[in-house]
Amino acid sequence: MGKPDADIVLHMSGINMNFPGVKALDNVDFTLRRKEIHSIMGENGAGKSTLIKVLTGVNKKDGGTMLLEGADFNPGSPLEARQYGVNSVYQEINLCDNLSVAENIYAGRQKTRFGKISWKQITSSAEEALRRLNISIDVTKLLGSYPVAIKQMIAIARAVDMHSRILILDEPTSSLDRPEVEQLFSTIRKLRDDGLSVIFISHFLDQVYELCDRVTVLRNGRLIGEYVLQELPRLELISKMVGKDFSSLKKREKNAAGKEQNEVLIEAKALGKKHVVEPFDLTVHKGETLGFAGLLGSGRTEVANLLFGIEEADNGELLLKKHRKIFKKPRDAINALIAFCPEDRKKNGLIHDLSVRENIILAMQAKQGIFKYLPLKKQAEIAAEYIRKLGIITPGADMPVKNLSGGNQQKVILARWLVTNPALLILDEPTRGIDVAAKAEIMNLAMRLCDEGMSLIFISSEIEEVIRCSDRVAIMRDRKKIAEITGEDLEEEKILKTIAADSGGAA
Ligand SMILES: Nc1ncnc2c1ncn2[C@@H]1O[C@H](COP(=O)(O)OP(=O)(O)OP(=O)(O)O)[C@@H](O)[C@H]1O
Ligand SMILES: [Mg+2]
Repeated sequence: MGKPDADIVLHMSGINMNFPGVKALDNVDFTLRRKEIHSIMGENGAGKSTLIKVLTGVNKKDGGTMLLEGADFNPGSPLEARQYGVNSVYQEINLCDNLSVAENIYAGRQKTRFGKISWKQITSSAEEALRRLNISIDVTKLLGSYPVAIKQMIAIARAVDMHSRILILDEPTSSLDRPEVEQLFSTIRKLRDDGLSVIFISHFLDQVYELCDRVTVLRNGRLIGEYVLQELPRLELISKMVGKDFSSLKKREKNAAGKEQNEVLIEAKALGKKHVVEPFDLTVHKGETLGFAGLLGSGRTEVANLLFGIEEADNGELLLKKHRKIFKKPRDAINALIAFCPEDRKKNGLIHDLSVRENIILAMQAKQGIFKYLPLKKQAEIAAEYIRKLGIITPGADMPVKNLSGGNQQKVILARWLVTNPALLILDEPTRGIDVAAKAEIMNLAMRLCDEGMSLIFISSEIEEVIRCSDRVAIMRDRKKIAEITGEDLEEEKILKTIAADSGGAA
């Protein structure tokens, strides 16, 4: 053993961790220093979350050692890890909507701190904990009455209140919009400057470069290296993650032969619903990609909900190949060959205990009717085909889908819809939680299907990506379609300006 370095808070070395059929971590080292923000990057399934779960006592490692400030560290549970000041905030925040904010922050630890519960004290301590994060809200109100971004801050306040040494954030920003991300970042920086070490996992390169000091790159469960971000060019980082020189992200040839001459597939005329989205017109041609840009909450998803019958329009009409359609429920839309891949994979899609294969054939089976059971052999063929096409990483089609990494789960949902051979596919933030290479694969596949005649509605917060993939872009703001941009005008600045243009309200 070398002499202990006072600067090192955590040293994990030679970590091994196996799941049935998968070597999730193979001899991985990880070092975290005092007062640093350290990112862990890698493709979907690289082992990032698993490394964190070993560190926080969720998973038991099969080998290796962990030293926390020089002392052996082997937490048997997240609770025990927390007692040592190692705290994580997962994307699915484990808080209780029907408790107050203050109760959430102190739930389960009143008596150790105060001897007996004093609500007054809890309230003021909660206020104090949040004030440290520059947030002042009414802590006696129910947690459920606050937006996700605030909930996340509350989860952080809960995590760092105790004598915290390490704060771990695994994909914390995927449902936040830009101002919320900024607020989160300033909180994280403040905590670092106050002496905390932070582990930040995200697929957003911009955010990693903006926030983090160092990065550890994993690939296929192995350590590739540790780097100072300022010294590592982006393309190099990506090629380390992917394991090859990176060229698949290059700009797609814009299909110059305007698809507007093509047959109209779907047309909305003043389609809308009170309190959901203002009436809008929309035309999608065969083989065309229509992008949707706009901030989170601008109404993009609501448009998709109307087109897919999740919400029933109370205004205007919808024509499919010139025939008037009324979608009262998703089933109606599915029968009209529309597929919808929603943004929240947790809420809208996967059945966790079913296998990858069962999840993939689900929509197809539903369309066929429950009585026309697909033979197992056929199911297996279909599953294998899409596992290959989408590069889904799994030991086999019979693996329960809950065992897949987050990004690979996302691909399973996409496969489910592609299997139905839709005329129109709606992708809502398909790239959330998906790594750069998988992103490129998924979009390339979707584009290929468009070349074969499928139409695509593509909703994403990443404007660059919307531009790269779309023939036309509709822009939403305040639940209203405010513009449509095409051709030469399709550029980031123009879209941003349109989104940001003063709408008369407060800025
Ligand atoms: N409970 C489990 N049972 C079986 N295999 C698992 C389990 N959890 C993770 N794995 C496997 O371990 C590997 C690493 O998964 P992990 O969740 O750590 O990836 P990740 O880097 O966090 O990916 P993502 O970016 O998609 O979140 C994957 O191949 C995954 O399928
Ligand atoms: Mg993960």
